[in-house]
Amino acid sequence: TRDQSPAEGTYELVVVANRLPVDRVTDDDGTVRWQQSPGGLVTAMQSVMTGQDGAWVGWSGDPGEAPEPFDSGDMHLHAVGLTEQEIEDHYEGFSNETLWPLYHDVIVPPRFRRRWFDGYRTVNRRFAEVAASLAAPGATVWVHDYQLQLVPAMLRELRPDVRIGWFNHIPFPGVEIFAQLPWRKHVVQGLLGADLLGFQRRADADNFLRVCRRLLGLHTRGGTVEVPGPGDSTRVVRASSFPISIDAASLSDLARTPEVMERARQIRRDLGDPEHVLLGVDRLDYTKGIRHRLKAYEELLSDGVLAPPQAVLVQVATPSRERVSAYIQLREQVEVTVGRANGDFGHLGMPAIHYLHQSYGRAEMAAMFLAADVMLVTPLRDGMNLVAKEYVTCRHDDGGALVLSEFTGAAGELDRAFICNPHDIDGLKYTIRHALDADPAEKRRRMRAMRRRVAEYDVSRWAGDFLAALDAAPDRP
Ligand code: ADP
Ligand code: G6P
Repeated sequence: TRDQSPAEGTYELVVVANRLPVDRVTDDDGTVRWQQSPGGLVTAMQSVMTGQDGAWVGWSGDPGEAPEPFDSGDMHLHAVGLTEQEIEDHYEGFSNETLWPLYHDVIVPPRFRRRWFDGYRTVNRRFAEVAASLAAPGATVWVHDYQLQLVPAMLRELRPDVRIGWFNHIPFPGVEIFAQLPWRKHVVQGLLGADLLGFQRRADADNFLRVCRRLLGLHTRGGTVEVPGPGDSTRVVRASSFPISIDAASLSDLARTPEVMERARQIRRDLGDPEHVLLGVDRLDYTKGIRHRLKAYEELLSDGVLAPPQAVLVQVATPSRERVSAYIQLREQVEVTVGRANGDFGHLGMPAIHYLHQSYGRAEMAAMFLAADVMLVTPLRDGMNLVAKEYVTCRHDDGGALVLSEFTGAAGELDRAFICNPHDIDGLKYTIRHALDADPAEKRRRMRAMRRRVAEYDVSRWAGDFLAALDAAPDRP
């Protein structure tokens, strides 16, 4: 009953994501500090929430009790605590060994374990309870991503008065793949607790609507699902696409500062003033196509098309999900490949590949983007890929070239990139050469068009469109 539900809060907007924008890190000497969390969700939502009076509910990234609510920047953060076992079951297990590979075209086989789903459900309930306790009467609650798909229905039960939106930052798979999930109905019913479901691409929203029809026998019409309620009543849930973006204006300003521009020149000098600087920047994740990219580059070296010191590849690989086995394997494979390429093709003080398994600040990333002649964004599947949008935004000099996989959400908008199929190694090699050798005037035209696109469709427009659609969604309570 209503009496047992958590107390109502005061926030008109509550964002619920698996992670807070900052991670709690305990150093060897016991000092506790907070650092920026990895990934595109945090990049995007941080700029949306800065200056908003909303709350952000999320996990602190380590095991144990949740710290008391605190402010970071001007965001109000409310942490959810997870035990070591819950991290294994909910986060590493169900979220990242079941859902992540399932939703990314089964690039590695998903694992289905009942205990993991139990953990996922328990943790989703905790997030729903915290969100329910913070939302003001009639507030808007915006739930994010695949880790929290049960939250919308759980929250609706606790707080039928709030508007509930959910946005999927990753792809939504086709029905034949989604159907493998033993808990497929639980997941869809969890999502259908929302008023509005947002996806990166039209194709993702269509996949979801097809799942509703085929696996749950629900009726869909023009981007909406009819959900049977008590008695003869029905609720209408909308599913639409909202391609996510970046804070283009502030990144572009940063890339224009004399410090960043000088740092970009310094990076090129540090690399030995090569003719061609190629760059990859990704979380170390098997969806990013890093192995395919390295294979193509190694072949360009062995074919004699490229050679250090005239050409160098810088691969920045952010540490990610380091206890999950597919990530441990990927790291080993990448590090062996880099070692082999440097052994075979490097010279003293001139490696063929600079591999950096580290995180950097925004200014350093902007300088790297400005220093790179060719940016390699070659995922096998990616919901959007913000790195591609960041690269073109930093190129206020109209320099550089973007090689972009057709399997990213970004390819739907950045169609003036040098588009590639990363599975086709010969095609990828050809596209890299094309990007290096294309007429400079042609490259400038492409870069300018892409930069304009991202400037126009930036993250504040994305958030504004989503929240306006949520406000206008059918079936206002
Ligand atoms: P994903 O969300 O899958 O990690 P995206 O490309 O959408 O992929 O977003 C990645 C975000 O993380 C971008 O904002 C990018 O600039 C940032 N990033 C990636 N690697 C690093 C790194 N080594 N240091 C700092 N930021 C990074
Ligand atoms: C992607 C996901 C996010 C996730 C991020 C980093 O961007 O869409 O939900 O937060 O990767 O992954 P992690 O597992 O470290 O949170």
